Amino acid sequence: MDALSTLPAGVTAIALGDQGLRGWQIATPVCRAVLSQQGAQVLEFQAAGKPPLLWQSPQATRQPGKAIRGGIPICFPWFGPHPTDAGKPAHGFARQRDWALANARQTPDALLVELTLAADDTTRELWPHDFLASLRISFGSRLALQLSVANTGTTPFRFAFAFHSYFPLADSSRACVYGLEDSVCIDQLAQDRTRSRQTGAVRFSGETDRIFLQTAGECRLVDELRNQAVLLSAPDCHSVIAWNPGPDKTARLVDMPPDAWRTMACIESGNVEDDAPELPPGAKQTFTLVLEQ
Ligand code: BG6
Repeated sequence: MDALSTLPAGVTAIALGDQGLRGWQIATPVCRAVLSQQGAQVLEFQAAGKPPLLWQSPQATRQPGKAIRGGIPICFPWFGPHPTDAGKPAHGFARQRDWALANARQTPDALLVELTLAADDTTRELWPHDFLASLRISFGSRLALQLSVANTGTTPFRFAFAFHSYFPLADSSRACVYGLEDSVCIDQLAQDRTRSRQTGAVRFSGETDRIFLQTAGECRLVDELRNQAVLLSAPDCHSVIAWNPGPDKTARLVDMPPDAWRTMACIESGNVEDDAPELPPGAKQTFTLVLEQ
């Protein structure tokens, strides 16, 4: 399953479901977490003394090659539907692939786990570029993710990515996001995807699917009923996507119970659309997301 012969104390290899998916359980004095090898996806995280940070659908599938609904999927190398080929997987292929475990070690503050995904013939069929992606996850009293993308080929490429974080809420209609005021906003639900500027905090009144561009990379999700908040700090991520499927779309999603939209929202940090970076051959870029409760 991985190149490491021994795992540090606090990391246990586990099966996720009964269809062959594998992952790791993390248990340290400061936090507990579950990480899926498919997608390098953090599925659960809870710091000691804090409520669970992430939402996961009770109907999430556990099947090889199928995206898992919840936690923090990594969207890469494109975001949303493929721009020219609807037959290619939504949000890229990174969340459907097994990543390789490259490193796992305890530091004074956190347990660090690093996973990598490299181009191969099957990724080149979907995206004709040579790359090495690595995700370094720091499981401490807070959760931090660092995604690096290197161009290992001979031609430049442009890519989009997002940390597609799912958060639990007491009631999505009583939650809001601060920090996106005045940002350029694409309403994905509008037929022509019109651009406007966000006025005030973002609220979830029914289905919401908005991309904010050129943001400062920091926003705060506030659960007003529980009087709790999550601060998302991602200084190199200029796009934020706010998504709540609302009742009709949720009813069409097989991996979400019909009323799940009431108790979750996604606040995704990344670089998409105009913010998508270009990488010359030999170059590498790194993007960090820190989540604090
Ligand atoms: C969001 C998109 O990031 O992800 C939405 O903005 C999309 O348009 C949602 O519906 C979920 O995507 P998926 O592929 O995980 O069902």
